[in-house]
Amino acid sequence: MGGAAVAVLAAAATRHNRAPLASLIYRVARGLHDASAAAAAAEEEKAGTQSRRRRRRSSSSLLLGPDFPDTWDTPPRAASRTPPPRDTGADYDCTATIIDGKSIAEDIRLHIAEEVRQMKSVVGHVPGLAVVLVGNRRDSESYVRYKTKGCEEVGIKSLLAKLPGNCTEDQVMDSVSRFNEDPSVHGILVQLPLPQHMDEERILSAISLEKDVDGFHPLNVGNLALRSRKPLFLPCAAKACIELLLQSGIEIMGKHVTVIGRSKVVGLPTSLLLQRHHATVSIIHAFTTNPEAITRESDIVISAAGVANLVRGSWLKQGAVVIDVGTNPIEDPTSDYGYRLTGDVCFEEAVKVASAITPVPGGVGPVTIAMLLSNTLDSAKRVYGLSD
Ligand code: GUN
Repeated sequence: MGGAAVAVLAAAATRHNRAPLASLIYRVARGLHDASAAAAAAEEEKAGTQSRRRRRRSSSSLLLGPDFPDTWDTPPRAASRTPPPRDTGADYDCTATIIDGKSIAEDIRLHIAEEVRQMKSVVGHVPGLAVVLVGNRRDSESYVRYKTKGCEEVGIKSLLAKLPGNCTEDQVMDSVSRFNEDPSVHGILVQLPLPQHMDEERILSAISLEKDVDGFHPLNVGNLALRSRKPLFLPCAAKACIELLLQSGIEIMGKHVTVIGRSKVVGLPTSLLLQRHHATVSIIHAFTTNPEAITRESDIVISAAGVANLVRGSWLKQGAVVIDVGTNPIEDPTSDYGYRLTGDVCFEEAVKVASAITPVPGGVGPVTIAMLLSNTLDSAKRVYGLSD
């Protein structure tokens, strides 16, 4: 039963003062959604045993979340007065499952590479991604290197406009305009942060909506926030968090998810996307008092604060799922580069409390890049009339 059919049935029941019936319809529909997702997962599993290299990226509509309307169940009066028993985790002896983002990303890339090959044989073109990199921040340079390498691996053409940190805003705008007009470019990404003297919003708004593979254009962000609308692109890190949860079979609907951070790149779009998946979302930011009291009540914690080891084991409920988006450089004289990357979560502590956790590196990062490639492929498919 589609979401629209459910809405019509349930609305009719509500109009005729049949609130319990309406509620039942939604519950059945949710069950069906779970069942169809489970059936799809079982199919995937079957295919996976035949060939491990068959894990696909989740479809765009699956990542955008099921389209259910809000209906609040009124709890029975007596029950609502009795607080639920506190989960003390007393009989819980857990070492978390490590969610292997590297392997998930590899499978998604293999699937994208196959689609790119098919596109080339059918229309004679491959998708193209253009990156604008301003200045010489070491972290930005290495992110862009990973993105370019990802393109190479799947057969996506990549173009790079590298501008000095002291260039003018208009020079960046010119690069964006050039890529907007280039028909071989299907995705444009301006690597953030930009130097302080530039108006980031003006530059991001200049990217053609149809090529905004980062999903940072205000119209794409607005359409993500409005549940009745569909953005053309979902921001890659937010999409990666959902993909990791879905691929790991972790239920989102109805769960209490806390997102740490509210940046345009990760925190904000992730919190919006989670709501489209019907999670109850708390957002923690720098001004939140007593953040650990909120995370301790959460079934899923997604951290994108950019602060190494912010989230301690004591911040987590027993059995919580932890998605660590942080990539913080910390000094490490034993490393070739003199530093290594660490997450926002104190992994050694969290792994003893959580039921599943993403490592850093090898968790969210590679899947985020796979999502960028996937957005670029989707954009090219739209242009060549090959969309599903
Ligand atoms: N800087 C850090 N992450 C990102 C990203 O996902 N996209 C862009 N454009 N800049 C970033």
